[in-house]
Amino acid sequence: MAGSFALNTGASIPSVGLGTWQIKPEVVGDTIYAAVKAGYRHIDCAPAYSNETEVGLALKKLFEDGVAKREELFITSKLWSGNHAPEDVPEAIDTTLKDLQLDYLDLFLIHGPIRIRKGTTHIPENLIPTDIPATWGAMEKLYDSGKARAIGVSNFTCKKMEDLLAVARVPPAVNQVECHLIWQQAKLRELCQSRGVHLSAHSPLGEASVLRNPIVAAVAEKLQKTPAQVALRWDLQMGQSVLPRSGNEGRIKENFDILIVPQCTAMRNRLAWL
Ligand SMILES: NC(=O)c1ccc[n+]([C@@H]2O[C@H](COP(=O)([O-])OP(=O)(O)OC[C@H]3O[C@@H](n4cnc5c(N)ncnc54)[C@H](OP(=O)(O)O)[C@@H]3O)[C@@H](O)[C@H]2O)c1
Repeated sequence: MAGSFALNTGASIPSVGLGTWQIKPEVVGDTIYAAVKAGYRHIDCAPAYSNETEVGLALKKLFEDGVAKREELFITSKLWSGNHAPEDVPEAIDTTLKDLQLDYLDLFLIHGPIRIRKGTTHIPENLIPTDIPATWGAMEKLYDSGKARAIGVSNFTCKKMEDLLAVARVPPAVNQVECHLIWQQAKLRELCQSRGVHLSAHSPLGEASVLRNPIVAAVAEKLQKTPAQVALRWDLQMGQSVLPRSGNEGRIKENFDILIVPQCTAMRNRLAWL
């Protein structure tokens, strides 16, 4: 199983990334540091997670300590629903870049096909109609500027993807959606694959609900793996990158230990010749 997937930009997205939603600001730095030391090269962030400043401090320390170089990491962030107005998009990425202490993002996503009034909270009274073509136009300008090396969307259904693909000058590189054994997204996966859009699985453990599934547990027992490894490996084998979140160092390593390392593949190929 490859350590990365190709994007339609020509870049690669690492197969396994660390989710940062719900990781408290006071611990997110140590969590990221442990994950990158364990081999993670993709961190999934968002201003909505209220911890990007602390993520930025951790990234700075990782670079200063020589644990990883900027160009070795793949950093994703997202445009919040209150910043969909085209004139607000450049300011939104600048704020995220400042908080993350970065010059560019590897991937910038429209967080969801939902728009709220600027500066308000995510409650039904604050919803206003989206204008995805206009917002996407502003995202394309960020791609042109190099501040976002790839642009994409999140939580887009088949219909919303088709609508966007019909008007996009720069096609979305990624659709990040909830995807796991219990919510398999077969139609959306087929559409994305046929149009060259990489599907990235958020909540790949279903916030741990997948781990309680008796079939997953039985497969894990048979393969001598953990339920989380079985769940994550399913996504990878379907061609999707995964973004598991854990605040526990042991489980961070466990969730990353689902790839066949290149040396093993090379060894297997060599044995196949004997
Ligand atoms: N674009 C979007 O709208 C969107 C929405 C949701 C999520 N996301 C992204 O996707 C990431 C992951 O999704 P998620 O945070 O909803 O949840 P998730 O990764 O599906 O599940 C996280 C839960 O599983 C537990 N867990 C992790 N590894 C485990 C293991 N090996 N064994 C047992 N339990 C394990 C964690 O607990 P411990 O911490 O105790 O290990 C935590 O309670 C987010 O953090 C975020 O970056 C994006």
